[in-house]
Amino acid sequence: KARLAILLSGRGSNMLAVVRATQTGVLRELAEVVVVFSNKPDAPGLEAAGALGCPTAALPSQGRKRAEFDAEAAALLQQYRPDFVVLAGYMRILSPAFIQPFAGRILNIHPADTHQHQGLHAYEWAFDNRLPATKITVHLVDEGLDTGPILAQQAVDLRGADTLAEVERRGLAVEHELYARALADLIKTGP
Ligand code: GAR
Repeated sequence: KARLAILLSGRGSNMLAVVRATQTGVLRELAEVVVVFSNKPDAPGLEAAGALGCPTAALPSQGRKRAEFDAEAAALLQQYRPDFVVLAGYMRILSPAFIQPFAGRILNIHPADTHQHQGLHAYEWAFDNRLPATKITVHLVDEGLDTGPILAQQAVDLRGADTLAEVERRGLAVEHELYARALADLIKTGP
């Protein structure tokens, strides 16, 4: 089975979707979650992961120099020997110190087409511009901001979505399905 390290900073709904997929979904037989890691020790997603029986680890990033923190986080994660590092609402830009040890094996999910929107607040962007649709993107992480090769995309119909909450609800439903499926495809074909 492929060993997954999941990284989060907040709620962790994508983490939950991936963990569930390893237990009873498309990642069963294919992957196991070896650690859920956060740069925020009080992230709700970390507690949720623990409740599901996943090993958890945290290293506070607040007040730390980026390169130093990233080197320490990478060293910590390497102890778990992950095949893939799965970013799930991990709200940090990764420096080369973090990317190098896992190059080509770090995935991210972005709630927009990364060719059209990068960085934070992608659902606000779609809502404010009254877009009729947006496109959830799973991509490999390189040293740019949301610039890595795209692995999978799926459109979300936003027609009639009158509130930001409704835009997010529709988008997250697609995120949760797409992330597990993209991981399964990647594991089957190899990194
Ligand atoms: C998700 O919508 C994810 O796509 C987004 O943050 C949210 C995390 O939610 N990520 C980004 O915007 C990255 N630029 P979650 O903690 O419930 O998975």
